[in-house]
Amino acid sequence: MKFNWKLCSVSKKQSWIVKLAIVVLLTGLSFRLFVFRSTGFEPQVETSLLDKAELLKQDDSVVGPSVDETDLQISPAAVDLTSPDAQPVEEPNPEDQIPYAEKCDLFNGDWIPNQSGPLYTNESCSLIETPQNCMKNGRPDSGYLYWRWNPRDCELPPFDAQRFLELMRNKAWALIGDSISRNHVQSLLCMLSTVERPVEVYHDEEYKSKRWHFNSYNLTISNIWSPFLVKAAIFEDNNGVSTSEVQLHLDILDKNWTSLFPRLDYVIFSTGKWFLKAAIYHENNTVAGCHICPEGNFTELGFDFAYRKTLQYAMDFVATSKHKGQIFFRTSTPDHFENGEWHNGGTCQRTTPAKEGEIELKDLNNILRNIELEEFEKAAEKAAKNGVNLKLLDFTNLSLTRPDGHPGPYRQFQPFAKDKIAKVQNDCLHWCLPGPIDSWNDIIMEMTVNSEG
Ligand SMILES: *[C@@H]1O[C@H](CO)[C@@H](O)[C@H](O)[C@H]1NC(C)=O
Ligand SMILES: *[C@@H]1O[C@H](CO)[C@@H](O)[C@H](O)[C@H]1NC(C)=O
Ligand SMILES: *[C@@H]1O[C@H](CO)[C@@H](O)[C@H](O)[C@H]1NC(C)=O
Ligand SMILES: *[C@@H]1O[C@H](CO)[C@@H](O)[C@H](O)[C@H]1NC(C)=O
Ligand SMILES: *[C@@H]1O[C@H](CO)[C@@H](O)[C@H](O)[C@H]1NC(C)=O
Ligand SMILES: *[C@@H]1O[C@H](CO)[C@@H](O)[C@H](O)[C@H]1NC(C)=O
Ligand SMILES: *[C@@H]1O[C@H](CO)[C@@H](O)[C@H](O)[C@H]1NC(C)=O
Repeated sequence: MKFNWKLCSVSKKQSWIVKLAIVVLLTGLSFRLFVFRSTGFEPQVETSLLDKAELLKQDDSVVGPSVDETDLQISPAAVDLTSPDAQPVEEPNPEDQIPYAEKCDLFNGDWIPNQSGPLYTNESCSLIETPQNCMKNGRPDSGYLYWRWNPRDCELPPFDAQRFLELMRNKAWALIGDSISRNHVQSLLCMLSTVERPVEVYHDEEYKSKRWHFNSYNLTISNIWSPFLVKAAIFEDNNGVSTSEVQLHLDILDKNWTSLFPRLDYVIFSTGKWFLKAAIYHENNTVAGCHICPEGNFTELGFDFAYRKTLQYAMDFVATSKHKGQIFFRTSTPDHFENGEWHNGGTCQRTTPAKEGEIELKDLNNILRNIELEEFEKAAEKAAKNGVNLKLLDFTNLSLTRPDGHPGPYRQFQPFAKDKIAKVQNDCLHWCLPGPIDSWNDIIMEMTVNSEG
């Protein structure tokens, strides 16, 4: 195995007190998110965004990604993997270096009806977590399963699990980010388990970061919890009451992913909506400012400041890493709350994809996306100079046109079993599994194993 997990226990002993404290502090957070801050997004503290007044009414959407109960748990300790037995990654085949995006834009296309349906179901895959298991939870319609992403200018063959596993023999993959990354890893594992069931070989105490192994292929797939990519501390008590804003260190990358990074062959990293939360920003070990901090006497810098800094830093790390594998940066994905947001009754009741132009990217999503694209462009140039294979997974368009792909009320089991008009929390941010994000893997497969020649 490439990863030496024994090192975990060493690290745990060394810092158990700190971690215990953090565990206690974090457990309250998910509860708190249901109550959601009532003062957190008051317009008067949005000073740096006052010129973007239209944003303010949308600020509510930020709570979305964090309400998945398991989201705010803890990922593995910052494991020191620079031990002597660390193996450098293999040299890639020259074909792997072909910039595939130049051949065809896989991200520009349409959803077309297709009767084949998904590769897996809630019956065939046991790895679907409850909040995304729409079939099991009783979502009544199934039309959303019968669409295929069809790029306009090129062929996109369906995901071939057998071929993928063959070609990924002895490789190590990791999906790094927030709960959307976890959503994605489940999709990939379910598609691959149509050939072989992976064995879970690691999870952290809070089941936040996990690792699976496909024994016959010696393929390892990790999901690393790092919602901010930079060092972060969250302070909330067991009752979900915040004692302090998130403390973000914009100039310290989260070791939870950077320590593993050199040993991975394929990396997909992303981040997004967590940056919309109230936070104190640190740089150079001093407070540089904050976002939504009525109490402190700090300069409001706006989430966009922190997002850009973080992406710059994370992407620069990647671009100058001399990494020989394949690294993907995935854009953040849009939510589809209508008639409200996460906390105030927003829903997503559509059962078919949207037509082009029918749904616009919300302003906040658009700001995140523009920063992502700008920073990616800069980093890609640098990466190319350094021989680092960095590519963009721009799933925004294909996700935007799938308002029908979210669990909605079916994030919980049989939400209307007892009361047909029950008021139920909707999830219009994460994706049903099976569901539209399975197509992400069609594209990833095309960009990795099929990209030769
Ligand atoms: C990294 O993992 C540690 C240990 O599990 C956790 O306390 C910490 O919150 C994680 N870091 C970030 C930025 O999520
Ligand atoms: C996204 O969709 C719009 C409208 O169809 C199109 O103009 C744009 O080029 C698409 N972007 C990408 C990256 O495919
Ligand atoms: C439907 O999708 C399958 C793969 O999932 C593909 O082989 C088939 O050609 C598609 N059918 C149509 C009519 O597009
Ligand atoms: C899968 O979902 C169906 C409804 O679509 C349900 O009847 C069945 O019990 C579920 N099976 C499992 C194993 O969850
Ligand atoms: C399994 O793959 C890892 C790389 O991910 C490699 O270091 C290890 O030697 C492989 N094990 C075997 C038995 O081939
Ligand atoms: C960080 O602080 C040191 C001294 O405290 C200073 O010399 C340095 O310029 C600072 N760096 C940045 C980027 O602010
Ligand atoms: C806030 O900071 C400014 C200077 O940065 C200072 O003049 C002011 O007195 C401070 N206010 C409070 C309430 O501490």
